[in-house]
Amino acid sequence: MCGLIGIIGRAPVTPLLVEALKRLEYRGYDSAGVATLINGHIERRRAEGKLFNLETKLAAEPLAGAIGIGHTRWATHGKPSERNAHPIVTGRVAVVHNGIIENFQQLKDELLAEGRTFDSDTDTEVVAQLLTVYLERQLSPEEAMGKAMQRLRGAFALVALFSGRHDILLGARRGSSLAVGHGDMAMYLGTDALALAPFTRRVTYLEDDDWVVLNAQEARIFQGHSEVRRAIRESGITGSMMGKGNHRHFMLKEIHEQPAVIGDTLHTYLSPATRSVTLPALPFDWAKVTRLTITACGTAYFAGMMAKYWFEKLARLPVEVEVASELRYREPPLPEGGVCIAISQSGETVDTLAALRYAKTQHQTILSVVNVPESAIARESHAVLPTIAGPEIGVASTKAFTTQLMVLLTMAVAAGRARRTLCSADEERLTRAMIEVPSQVNEVLNMDLAYKNIAEGILAKARDVLYLGRGLSFPIALEGALKLKEISYIHAEGYAGGEMKHGPIALIDEAVPVVVVAPADAIFDKIASNFEQVRARGGKLVLLSDEAGNDRLAHHAAAAAKLPTVDPMVAPILYSVSVQLLAYYTAVAKGTDVDQPRNLAKSVTVE
Ligand code: F6R
Repeated sequence: MCGLIGIIGRAPVTPLLVEALKRLEYRGYDSAGVATLINGHIERRRAEGKLFNLETKLAAEPLAGAIGIGHTRWATHGKPSERNAHPIVTGRVAVVHNGIIENFQQLKDELLAEGRTFDSDTDTEVVAQLLTVYLERQLSPEEAMGKAMQRLRGAFALVALFSGRHDILLGARRGSSLAVGHGDMAMYLGTDALALAPFTRRVTYLEDDDWVVLNAQEARIFQGHSEVRRAIRESGITGSMMGKGNHRHFMLKEIHEQPAVIGDTLHTYLSPATRSVTLPALPFDWAKVTRLTITACGTAYFAGMMAKYWFEKLARLPVEVEVASELRYREPPLPEGGVCIAISQSGETVDTLAALRYAKTQHQTILSVVNVPESAIARESHAVLPTIAGPEIGVASTKAFTTQLMVLLTMAVAAGRARRTLCSADEERLTRAMIEVPSQVNEVLNMDLAYKNIAEGILAKARDVLYLGRGLSFPIALEGALKLKEISYIHAEGYAGGEMKHGPIALIDEAVPVVVVAPADAIFDKIASNFEQVRARGGKLVLLSDEAGNDRLAHHAAAAAKLPTVDPMVAPILYSVSVQLLAYYTAVAKGTDVDQPRNLAKSVTVE
């Protein structure tokens, strides 16, 4: 949420700031702004709405300067408007911020009592005002930043530019991510390595409570008053990874990357030669784990729900899955010998991080499944099994989800083997099936015209859509509904098929399409009954099934898509791709902003 960039160099920075903001726009797109120093004075340009509006403004009113900061915003305090867009500027300082200053009201009251006036409704302005107060008391920018950090509560990443000081740029972080980029003739501060990718791959990830002073040659990092050393790492991200290729949207590109990234992820944990799962050494023994607690948010939470089915079936392991924002405040007792799995694409989601920290207080061993190995969630875990999905830019998660599923399935297989609940014949059958998944996902993608037709002909015309699934297909029904609502703005709900008759069936009429996720598995007959119950009430059925399922039900459906016939344990991965395609083509038909849907942002770093 919110993207930050700061550059100190010798060449004009504004085009570079805008270039970085383009790569950060997926984090928030309510408004954007940049500020530079010109002859010692802070100059800024801001615009409400997409970055394009800022670019238009800059074309009319260019901004010179070799030191500058930029921001793309997802509003927390203060509605999206130019007035609340960052950089927030006083005469002395310009600040960009990601996160929330929790004690901002108390600080604002103090500052107002001192006679200061505020120009925005943001929490960020208290930071700019505090720094200004300290500067006016003759403190240096470094001293002012150190002192301000002591007053701030909450989560933040900050970058600040000081009037009259062409030689320094300051940054600070607590909770929200911030990285230093080391260039040849310039130094950078950015929210993540993606923002820095066009400029440098040499990156230092700041730790909580670090603050940093940059000049054009080097960075000095401090904790409190003490200077600290942090490693410079080579980021694997290149500028070219960030393009859309030939695709119209990042989401479509990322959907189509799935055969490759699922394969890459699988081959990290399963050797195709030996057909056996080999996880890196873990700090616990699956055979001795008493309970598994899985926590995550949104789509990652549905991956956790899926994992529950796998761990219970394959490893006979008791599993609780809980939305992180609930777990962190419910504070349930977690048993001795338990393992907590935190799942997160970004590795930054604040609720997941807090749930992880709570699980640590309960002496759980923390294993995380993340797509950003340098992220806070990864760093705070005892062990990390990364997804090898590459950068995910589309706000709606696709390839991160299916690679999470793949990692979780390999874990469940490893746990089943260690606990002797999965015999070697079953393990071999399953790993064979897993190895086939990338090419079967390709088969699903090759059928995308079928999904486009269903989306245009049925879903895009609906006001409400229901998704039904049972067993392993239930989390996919939930994920399908989430995907549809977030990018097409059509109201959608996912239900366990058996729950229909306990309430939701009242909604069924010919105007409500019902998408039934139904591979012909052991409980196919049960979902077939639910299908009939909807049909009997005039519901418009969309069937997602394999050949056997289509033979049985397709003639009663308004539309059907046929998926490859696969082992039921891997079927959810294929069906995930189907529901992604349905949501994507529905959103395109409705003309919504697929990659940057309204009100949403990637990486939810606020509560
Ligand atoms: C939905 C989506 C979100 C995220 C959720 C967690 O398409 O992307 O629901 O899954 O915000 O984010 P991460 O995985 O970064 O923790």
